[in-house]
Amino acid sequence: MSLWGGRFSEPSAAEFKKFNDSLAFDYQLAAYELQASQAWAQALAQAKLLSDAEARQLSEALTELQQAIAANPELPLQSDEEDIHSWVEAQLIEKIGATAKRLHTGRSRNDLVATDLRLLCKALGHQLIDANLAAIQALMQFAERYQAAPLPGYTHLQRAQPIMAGHWALAYVQMLQRDVSRLKESLQRLDVCPLGSGALAGTTAPIDRQALAQNLGFRDACENSLDGVSDRDFALDLLHCASTGMLHLSRLAEDVVFYCSGESGCFAMSDRISSGSSLMPQKKNPDLFELLRGKTGRVLGHQQALQITLKGLPLAYNKDLQEDKEGLFDALHTYLQCLQMLSFAMPELSVNTTHAAQQATLGYSNATELADYLVGKGMPFRDAHHVTGAVVLYAQQQKQPLESLTLAEFTEFSEVIDDDVYQVLELDYGMHQRAALGGTAPAAVKLALKHANDWLHAA
Ligand code: ARG
Repeated sequence: MSLWGGRFSEPSAAEFKKFNDSLAFDYQLAAYELQASQAWAQALAQAKLLSDAEARQLSEALTELQQAIAANPELPLQSDEEDIHSWVEAQLIEKIGATAKRLHTGRSRNDLVATDLRLLCKALGHQLIDANLAAIQALMQFAERYQAAPLPGYTHLQRAQPIMAGHWALAYVQMLQRDVSRLKESLQRLDVCPLGSGALAGTTAPIDRQALAQNLGFRDACENSLDGVSDRDFALDLLHCASTGMLHLSRLAEDVVFYCSGESGCFAMSDRISSGSSLMPQKKNPDLFELLRGKTGRVLGHQQALQITLKGLPLAYNKDLQEDKEGLFDALHTYLQCLQMLSFAMPELSVNTTHAAQQATLGYSNATELADYLVGKGMPFRDAHHVTGAVVLYAQQQKQPLESLTLAEFTEFSEVIDDDVYQVLELDYGMHQRAALGGTAPAAVKLALKHANDWLHAA
């Protein structure tokens, strides 16, 4: 029996029912629907709208269903009910008959679905925080291992200055730390309960909504019923978290794909996380990281889809809101899976340290050091920049790195250059100079690792 057949003289057309039903995806709310229903039955009993015996009967039947769902989350998919709300009610009627029909007193599917969805978002939000923490730990282990391994650093994808591979990994630790704080903030805002908002105007049941909210583990009850049933900001917040988090994973993935390429060769992946080509026998492809990058598009798309669905929706509930679920579920599960894959992949990634250090010396990436050296000899920086540019052009024409030029060649460009220039041009020199907070010097990287460790322990 459908939840709303009374005023109709004809059943739904099969074509419409198929289009309208949401059980195929909202079955994922089952555990939360049952949890909300347990709390609602208690609230009704306290308001004397259910006898204690009826409340007990309902609670026992709901507990049985909770066990059935825990054993088989896909159980509702075997039925032809319209949605998860109809499914639970039908199951209850089958178990306890007439009493089951009293549970919907004073509530609506509108406040119920909003409550279920918030409960699901809370649970997934906490899982996402944990998955981020695990990924941060994996990145930190990489940073620890390669804290003093030089790597070419790029701007505009042109060799710029050498960096430590550990410094590279710790940049992503910073991003993921912000992702954790964004998730925590969103969960804080999400933590209000719409149950008791009724269909749109509030409930007639004389219940204590704050006690109900607390019973469900929410910080508070929402304060406006119209907003309670129609607000999906919490879903947008989480989609934003997922989008920004995926952007970070995507950028990391792109760096890894590049550093693993034949052109760079600074990183290597284990065979365990690489795939081959069906045609080209020599290939070893970074599919795992390409998928992290690729799946980002779909998460960003889901965020935009919900924004567009909500734009221009009048108050209060509209069936458009049913479209909030599939994209949200997919985005959050995709984000979770990608974080888990990153944690799994980081230990399988290594730096080809000798090759990477050698690569880090190429491309005149010690030119800034020469300019700074000239400044140290009293030359204004703008002049030093110009002189160094001329030296680089000359060295390029000679097909030599800066450190291979003779002192006589150097002094053609500036009298102030002396024998001590060669030590400045060594790979380690420039990196060790960048020892201020946030720099790539080994001491600064060590401090950054300590900060990240302290943060992780406090998280
Ligand atoms: N399946 C619906 C959804 O996901 C549940 C709420 C239905 N409410 C209604 N008034 N038709 O939004």
